Amino acid sequence: MIKEVEIKANGGPESILWKDCELEKLKPGQVTIEHTFVGLNFIDTYHRSGLYPLPLPTKLGMEGAGVVVDKSSDVNEYEIGDRVAYVMALGSYSTKRNIEANKLVKIPKDISDQQAAAVLLKGMTVEYLVERLFKVNNTHTVLFHAIAGGVGLLACQWIKHLGAKIIGTAGTEEKAILAKQNGCDEVILYKSENFVEKTKYLTNDVGVDVVFDGVGKDTAILGLDCLKPLGTMVVFGNSSGNCPPIDPGLLASKGSLFFTRPTLMTYGTKKNDLLHSSGRVFEMLSTNKIKLEINTSYNLSEVSKAHTDLELRKTFGSIVMKNDY
Ligand SMILES: NC(=O)c1ccc[n+]([C@@H]2O[C@H](COP(=O)([O-])OP(=O)(O)OC[C@H]3O[C@@H](n4cnc5c(N)ncnc54)[C@H](OP(=O)(O)O)[C@@H]3O)[C@@H](O)[C@H]2O)c1
Repeated sequence: MIKEVEIKANGGPESILWKDCELEKLKPGQVTIEHTFVGLNFIDTYHRSGLYPLPLPTKLGMEGAGVVVDKSSDVNEYEIGDRVAYVMALGSYSTKRNIEANKLVKIPKDISDQQAAAVLLKGMTVEYLVERLFKVNNTHTVLFHAIAGGVGLLACQWIKHLGAKIIGTAGTEEKAILAKQNGCDEVILYKSENFVEKTKYLTNDVGVDVVFDGVGKDTAILGLDCLKPLGTMVVFGNSSGNCPPIDPGLLASKGSLFFTRPTLMTYGTKKNDLLHSSGRVFEMLSTNKIKLEINTSYNLSEVSKAHTDLELRKTFGSIVMKNDY
């Protein structure tokens, strides 16, 4: 018997149901993982609320770390006892699960399961955003929204490592202090300050080379005014709601801007990309180029509370949930 989350109807955190069920029979190419830690990501709230619709009933959770406890006879890459992690595979809110072996990566010896679950999805997102989608370098000035969040704090350190100047936005003074401690050059308190005016002021009216926006509805259109001519707007999330439709004419009138809406599914799930991106993330962590802020640890049995806190903007850094069953 295992425990897993099920959503029968979209709704708030109260729609998260824990249920006992039997683990399905292993299929060819699969292994069984016993989770030790499960990563919480904002996408989980979109799946729960229905912002990203999934056929119902559905499982939840896109990131986990744990130990291989069983495997199909055709799997040669992994042995029982291997420590592994994965991203973008629905169903991580569970005590045990079956998963295709080709979706896994081995967790290096110097990285704990908790660290792997805290860093992999968010770190791979940062890797593709700043090293492949827009190759950030020391000539760039970057605006990154929600800089004290899970993705934000990792991005802050990674972008500093690449030598760029980074301006972040944050909801509270406490988050601003944390962002500065993680290398952010300037933090705008975007609930009380006009972030467009402040960005212009901080760049002597020049604007930034790139905006990374995971907030969406409240910031994405306004953010176009923070860019230099030929600048790039990367809307990679919707924590405040979906970005409204954009008229291409607006991109023309504001200086031949580039606009993209990328996903980790495209940039990080093909085997080569998965190995490259996860390898870079583990390397950055092992060599202390990035460090993790895992201040808010929850148990898997408290997943509803974790969703509530994340959506109320109470959390900062990476959230992981311990398998407490
Ligand atoms: N496209 C991709 O490949 C990809 C992959 C991973 C994550 N993402 C996106 O990246 C973003 C960050 O993800 P995360 O898991 O690290 O979350 P997070 O940044 O830890 O949490 C979201 C943050 O967004 C800010 N926010 C602004 N308006 C908000 C609102 N109305 N409601 C809730 N939060 C609001 C809050 O920070 P302040 O209090 O500082 O405003 C909040 O802490 C999300 O949009 C997520 O969907 C995209």
